[in-house]
Amino acid sequence: MDLSKLDIPEHVPAELVADFDPWEYIAEARGDAFKRAAGLHDKMPEIFFAPKIGYLPGCWVPSTNELLRRIVMDPATFSSREGTPFAAMLGESWKLIPLEIDPPDHAKYRLLLNKLFNQKAISAMEPDMRRTAKSLIDEVKDQGSCDFNADFSSRFPTLIFLRMMGWPEEHVSKFVGWVNTLIKSQDMQVVYGAVVEIASYLRSVIEARRAQPIDDVTSYVLSCEIDGRPLSDDEVMGICFLIFIGGLDTVTSSLNFHYYHLANNPDIQAALRIDPSLIPNAVEELLRAHGVSNMRRTVTRDVTVGGVQMKEGDFVLISTELANLDSAAFKCPMEVDITRADARKHLSFSTGPHLCIGATLARRELGIALEAWLSSVPEFRVANESEIVVRGGGVFGLENMRIAWD
Ligand code: HEM
Repeated sequence: MDLSKLDIPEHVPAELVADFDPWEYIAEARGDAFKRAAGLHDKMPEIFFAPKIGYLPGCWVPSTNELLRRIVMDPATFSSREGTPFAAMLGESWKLIPLEIDPPDHAKYRLLLNKLFNQKAISAMEPDMRRTAKSLIDEVKDQGSCDFNADFSSRFPTLIFLRMMGWPEEHVSKFVGWVNTLIKSQDMQVVYGAVVEIASYLRSVIEARRAQPIDDVTSYVLSCEIDGRPLSDDEVMGICFLIFIGGLDTVTSSLNFHYYHLANNPDIQAALRIDPSLIPNAVEELLRAHGVSNMRRTVTRDVTVGGVQMKEGDFVLISTELANLDSAAFKCPMEVDITRADARKHLSFSTGPHLCIGATLARRELGIALEAWLSSVPEFRVANESEIVVRGGGVFGLENMRIAWD
């Protein structure tokens, strides 16, 4: 990488500047992407500066679990307010709620949404999740192989999301397409086109439910009040857009990485078939070993962190894979041990005020999917190792995987 062409702030010491883009560097290792991420703990200082990260400008990359925890727990110094570009692309100013709202206002919105994602609400969705997983697997199980992403991992969370929101499930392909464009396209014009379509879809649903509420999430959000007033259309839009982008690709990507690991480790599949009571902890351990989310924070005041001087306006990357693969936090972090006692302490759902509100839903989706696969299909393997592609980004992804069974 030619560092002279990149804009590196003057206060960044030269010895802390990486000469690579961490997302590219990790993704290039394909099937060994997480091994490569773990190696960054030895290769780089505890905090380094990435002069370029994907299409984003340079930012600090803290790598230890301890530092990353400290940063996400301190939203006054590390703000979430400048997050995604979607509203700005449309020339609008709504925020993804509650993700792009800092405390103390954050808690007001979070309180409204808790009801949708608590244990009781998610348990009520469980029979539908089981039916959905089973019917998707039934469609492919006699074929002896499938395109895991197209046939299962993208459709499963999207169908559950559409039913939860109260939107027509015939729109599943449209939604899968939008997620793919938002996450994968490097062409800003194409991303813009998708954002326009999504925003117009959301606006039309919001309008319809405002006119005629039904028993669904959209109508519930429209019925909420904040500071004694109803939510505005922009606020409802920001909430729906966030649930859409927060809850779909994260689950899809996690499923893809988890099944890649399982397909390459038949011993784990066998252990879980023999004792399905291990599944919940196996899900935690698979989540720990495959942190997919990379978030950003903006520094709100000059501050020294881990001996490094950061200035107001700097960006900081919160890499959940680096947090989870730190040997100071997890013993032998590259070993996927489905009986690991402290697996649940992973940071894949982050922590602090923005701790993933969908974590219970995601855990249940992943557990139910695993039960369904293991009980419907015999030992499965990766059928096309050489075609696997790993993508770096805000949500890491693994694509093109076919799995096969006899
Ligand atoms: C394995 C799947 C998932 C992973 C790895 C994941 C990861 C995360 C992470 C790391 C955050 C914190 C972001 C930050 O601090 O900037 C977050 C927040 C959030 N997630 Fe998830 N998520 C998953 C599934 C879901 C699902 C299924 C939903 C909903 C349908 C969801 C909705 C949200 C929302 C609304 C927030 C914002 C919470 C707040 O700001 O208070 N997520 N997620």
